[in-house]
Amino acid sequence: MRLAPRLLGAAVLLGCAASAAAHVGHGVPRAGRSSAAGVPLDLYERHAAGSAVRHAKVARRRRSPAATAPTSEAQEAAITDETDACTPYSIPEVSALEGTFPTVWEIADILPGDVQAQGVWSAIQKSGIIPKSVKPKGTPDGDFDSFTPTYDQSNPDCWWTYEHCDVPKHPGIPDDIVGCPEPSTYGLTFDDGPNCTQQVLYDYLRDQKQKATMFYIGSNVMDWPLQAQRGLVDGHDICVHTWSHRYMTSLNDTQVFAELYYTAKAIKDVMGITVQCWRPPFGDVDDRVRAIATGLGLATIIWTDDTDDWQMKPAGKKSQKAIDRNYAAIIAGENSQKGNIVLAHELNNGTMHEFISQYPNIKARFDHVVPVFSCMNNTKPYLEDITYPSFEEYIAGGVASGLPGPDIKAVSTTYAPVLAQATSAASQQSAGAAGATKQNSTAAGKQSDQSAADGQKKSSASPAYSAFGAAMAVAGCGAVALMATL
Ligand SMILES: *[C@@H]1O[C@H](CO)[C@@H](O)[C@H](O)[C@H]1NC(C)=O
Ligand SMILES: *[C@@H]1O[C@H](CO)[C@@H](O)[C@H](O)[C@H]1NC(C)=O
Ligand SMILES: *[C@@H]1O[C@H](CO)[C@@H](O)[C@H](O)[C@H]1NC(C)=O
Ligand SMILES: *[C@@H]1O[C@H](CO)[C@@H](O)[C@H](O)[C@H]1NC(C)=O
Ligand SMILES: *[C@@H]1O[C@H](CO)[C@@H](O)[C@H](O)[C@H]1NC(C)=O
Repeated sequence: MRLAPRLLGAAVLLGCAASAAAHVGHGVPRAGRSSAAGVPLDLYERHAAGSAVRHAKVARRRRSPAATAPTSEAQEAAITDETDACTPYSIPEVSALEGTFPTVWEIADILPGDVQAQGVWSAIQKSGIIPKSVKPKGTPDGDFDSFTPTYDQSNPDCWWTYEHCDVPKHPGIPDDIVGCPEPSTYGLTFDDGPNCTQQVLYDYLRDQKQKATMFYIGSNVMDWPLQAQRGLVDGHDICVHTWSHRYMTSLNDTQVFAELYYTAKAIKDVMGITVQCWRPPFGDVDDRVRAIATGLGLATIIWTDDTDDWQMKPAGKKSQKAIDRNYAAIIAGENSQKGNIVLAHELNNGTMHEFISQYPNIKARFDHVVPVFSCMNNTKPYLEDITYPSFEEYIAGGVASGLPGPDIKAVSTTYAPVLAQATSAASQQSAGAAGATKQNSTAAGKQSDQSAADGQKKSSASPAYSAFGAAMAVAGCGAVALMATL
């Protein structure tokens, strides 16, 4: 099915009220798409056709540390020349880890013999949180043509891609976080980092004393570990954006698990933190995928507004003026009652400079520009002892404390997430009750501080997870603002 963008916007608006017709949501590639002309039409194709191939080669061709290659976060952060910054480097701590991770840019699955991963996966399965009725859909590159015609139009899987469902219909799964609740507040987020050219954005944010929420791709963390470390050292929010950036609802259970698990583990080994949040590439999530993420203690963060900046030339097809208009519409949507969460990308020089050029306009219109942890008062976002500012603290100039310094070093360590305790949370939620707060905030309760494989878990409340778990999603119509940008 193919809907023109404007009609799609109208369809989704209607969908909030009536949910009558079948709508294919934003993020679904259009029928007949083709990269034959060398101009890919969606992000996945861009990765597959270009960057993934290039990155795979890059990983293989990496040289040993040379005199000029950076060996620390501080050295890397000081490089301003793009060619230098994008010259592959190799640091021994990270090379030593590579055998314990899937191949970069390939769909992850549990590695043979990875007892720890198998233990965590088995605990999630035993928790009973994963709904058996929700099956994989479409293909990893987002072709749902053979799936949507027979899909139940009531959207029983709460598939976001279908009609932006963000209030799960299966028990024990928290609502997605969609917008910042604070009035006139711009939730600043960037997908797809870390990357070699990020300095232009990170230097700018540093100079503006502005923090953002960064959704990191696991393969990028392995390719550009010193850049990943900078994101944390600079005090930004760090969340998972999967291992290989595919459409998650297409993958089978162990692949979904592995895409999340190995990214979170890469972040733990390279950056030293156990993260508790993730964003699905293309927003492509359903209750099966959400449940597996919940099992790993990861809150699902979507967005209200999309800059569509990745579509900008030369990497995309749209003019900078078109992206300027997207930003203008988002800025005009400033609301004195509530805030938003805006999707942008650190992808390349173009998208980063586009944000930089828009930042003064954003600041002029919104009372506050904040990262997601702060707008949700999530002051303990990781399991480690690092404290982020609450909303009030952030807008008063507060920054995180307990962060590592520029001497941060990668090390192989145990990734021991807070696993959701689903069976006790199988609550009496009413299916499709948009906006109802119905998840059980005790859902996240078990922390494994021993080998995750031994199944011996101590019960301990997780304030960080609860802060996200109790988050109020901007209900079922939260995606309406996004449509204004189409
Ligand atoms: C998922 O798919 C991969 C690749 O086809 C396969 O190796 C693996 O066994 C599958 N896992 C499950 C749980 O079906
Ligand atoms: C990384 O940065 C390069 C250079 O800006 C860009 O071409 C590429 O698309 C980026 N790759 C990813 C995976 O974001
Ligand atoms: C990055 O973009 C800015 C703004 O468009 C431009 O001035 C600059 O030359 C670009 N840098 C590179 C390395 O392409
Ligand atoms: C964050 O804390 C402030 C001040 O206590 C409060 O007004 C606000 O409702 C809180 N926001 C969330 C999402 O909990
Ligand atoms: C939440 O979980 C607790 C502990 O398992 C249980 O006692 C309580 O009844 C649950 N509440 C709801 C609303 O499901």
